[in-house]
Amino acid sequence: MTNKKSVPKEIKRIAVFTSGGDAPGMNAAIRAVVRTATYHDLHVFGIHAGYEGMIDTKVERLERRDVANIIHRGGTFLKTARSMRFMTPEGRQSAYETLLAFDIDACVAIGGNGTFTGASIFSKEFDIPFIGVPGTIDNDLYGTDHTIGFDTAVNTAVEAVDRIRDTADSHNRLFFIEVMGRHSGFIALNTAIGSGAGSVLIPEQDTSLDDLVENLRMDAKRQKLFSLVIVAEGNKYGNASQIADLVRPQLEMYDIKVTIIGHLQRGGSPSCYDRVLASRLGYGAVEGLLKGQRNVMVGLLNNKIAFTPFEDAIKKEKTINEELLTLAEVLAM
Ligand code: F6P
Repeated sequence: MTNKKSVPKEIKRIAVFTSGGDAPGMNAAIRAVVRTATYHDLHVFGIHAGYEGMIDTKVERLERRDVANIIHRGGTFLKTARSMRFMTPEGRQSAYETLLAFDIDACVAIGGNGTFTGASIFSKEFDIPFIGVPGTIDNDLYGTDHTIGFDTAVNTAVEAVDRIRDTADSHNRLFFIEVMGRHSGFIALNTAIGSGAGSVLIPEQDTSLDDLVENLRMDAKRQKLFSLVIVAEGNKYGNASQIADLVRPQLEMYDIKVTIIGHLQRGGSPSCYDRVLASRLGYGAVEGLLKGQRNVMVGLLNNKIAFTPFEDAIKKEKTINEELLTLAEVLAM
């Protein structure tokens, strides 16, 4: 059953949830949503484990004090999930019934691409509006300069690469270090620049392995047998181990090692930047809803709050800054 109403309802009761991969700063965003909403005398409900909890009616009332002492905590105290059931009409119908049962007027969805795809489909079928808050370490959403969690993830990755550098330097080793980014190279590129790595492989740039091998062979000729190559998870050649295997036969002069930083990047206390960003976006989401924003993602563009329709946030490509690509190349020479 779908239920489309044309008259916008006054917003008095909102639900907030986190969905998709967790990201440091999600708790700070929930806190900001709850506190901004209660400031405006709205009733707030937290939904557990994203769309899964919406389907299974895992909903609790949240007051100001319920979000005390969480701004500094990684992960999400509301829990998160990637829901397959919400991708079905039956799942979305059950979710709608939960929202009706709690008389929810609007939802704040904190997550990434999959979260907003679900929200966008749901909002076309039912009369409960959503507003999205970008929370993903990948930074791959159009409509915001940064997503919540990206800064912390990059700092964690850079710290890890700094440690690997010590070993690479001491033993004269070549390391292939894989960072997250299923479809995007934002984490990899920023980690490469921030850690002073020699090369970076990202999905957005067509780097040939032959060129990479050639550069590393030139380094070796100059007696430089220590090097760091940052590999984005989503690059076209495969994971860091597969790349190392591909190039090893041509780089016999190197002692090659592989490190996959993995989920270490997703956890941990959010950086101050992420806490402030999450606070601004959580606040912006509630303010936006009250001012009539519907089915959009709130973001920060040039340090100003901006709203982008879900369709654009999901489908438009956020491009890698060309200047950063050049910078990474020039500084590594
Ligand atoms: O969406 C963020 C992300 O960190 C991706 O870069 C990564 O591929 C993915 O999550 C892995 O998530 P999970 O282990 O939860 O499936």
